[in-house]
Amino acid sequence: MKKAIIVGASSGIGRELAKILSENGYIVGLAARRKELLVQLKEELPNNSFIKRIDVCNTEEAIQAVQDLINEMGQVDLIVINAGYGLINPKLDLIQEIKTIDVNVIGFTAMANVAFKYFKKMGIGHIVGISSLAAIRGASGSPAYNASKAYISNYLQGLRQKASQQGLPILITDIKPGFVDTPMAQGSGLFWVAPVPKAAEQIYKAIAAKKTHAYITKRWRIIAWIFKIIPDWVYHKL
Ligand SMILES: NC(=O)c1ccc[n+]([C@@H]2O[C@H](COP(=O)([O-])OP(=O)(O)OC[C@H]3O[C@@H](n4cnc5c(N)ncnc54)[C@H](OP(=O)(O)O)[C@@H]3O)[C@@H](O)[C@H]2O)c1
Repeated sequence: MKKAIIVGASSGIGRELAKILSENGYIVGLAARRKELLVQLKEELPNNSFIKRIDVCNTEEAIQAVQDLINEMGQVDLIVINAGYGLINPKLDLIQEIKTIDVNVIGFTAMANVAFKYFKKMGIGHIVGISSLAAIRGASGSPAYNASKAYISNYLQGLRQKASQQGLPILITDIKPGFVDTPMAQGSGLFWVAPVPKAAEQIYKAIAAKKTHAYITKRWRIIAWIFKIIPDWVYHKL
């Protein structure tokens, strides 16, 4: 049986992805801070699962907890780094900006670090990072969030190049969701908001197909393309 860890499995996309992985025969390791939600989720899963309380911002403890979880599970084939934080922050409240960086940059790096080193030792593995369409360009309403997601995508590319240069069969998948129907999708004028099960199903398919990149849902590729090509003088008026 294949085994996967999801960091950030207690709600939203991570929770739904855990269910899909379990339905598809995976033994799943569920990690997040809200352990009570992980306990509830475990009861809903058709296959065996493991639980670990992890706060990715406590980097040393979090790394140790992932290692403990891997040991409890025996081995792991897939690690999904889904934990994320973000909100619309037009007034640039610094505490919120730093909290975003703590989870999405520092926490992500700690999880990617432990995952890559583990798979390097194993000689094989698959890391999935949940970035965002926000990674493509900065945004006035959420500068730290967009920048943190750009960091995630860029970091994943670095790991992909490292695996390639070292001849390691470690797959690195960068998932870029548009809007998904969770409390994290904030603001006015939201469109193409994907139901969580649909988003998770498409993420699962991208993982199974060993994709390096995937937009969720797929049509967000069009918006990504537009965001990439429009000049600043147009973008700044949006
Ligand atoms: N919803 C969207 O429109 C959208 C769009 C693009 C990208 N994304 C990304 O998708 C991912 C999942 O978000 P979601 O929409 O499903 O929102 P969500 O329901 O709020 O899920 C966030 C998950 O991250 C975990 N998490 C947050 N801080 C953590 C910490 N310090 N340590 C460990 N786990 C932590 C949460 O668990 P605990 O609180 O229990 O720790 C929860 O399981 C995020 O990375 C988000 O940036 C979402």
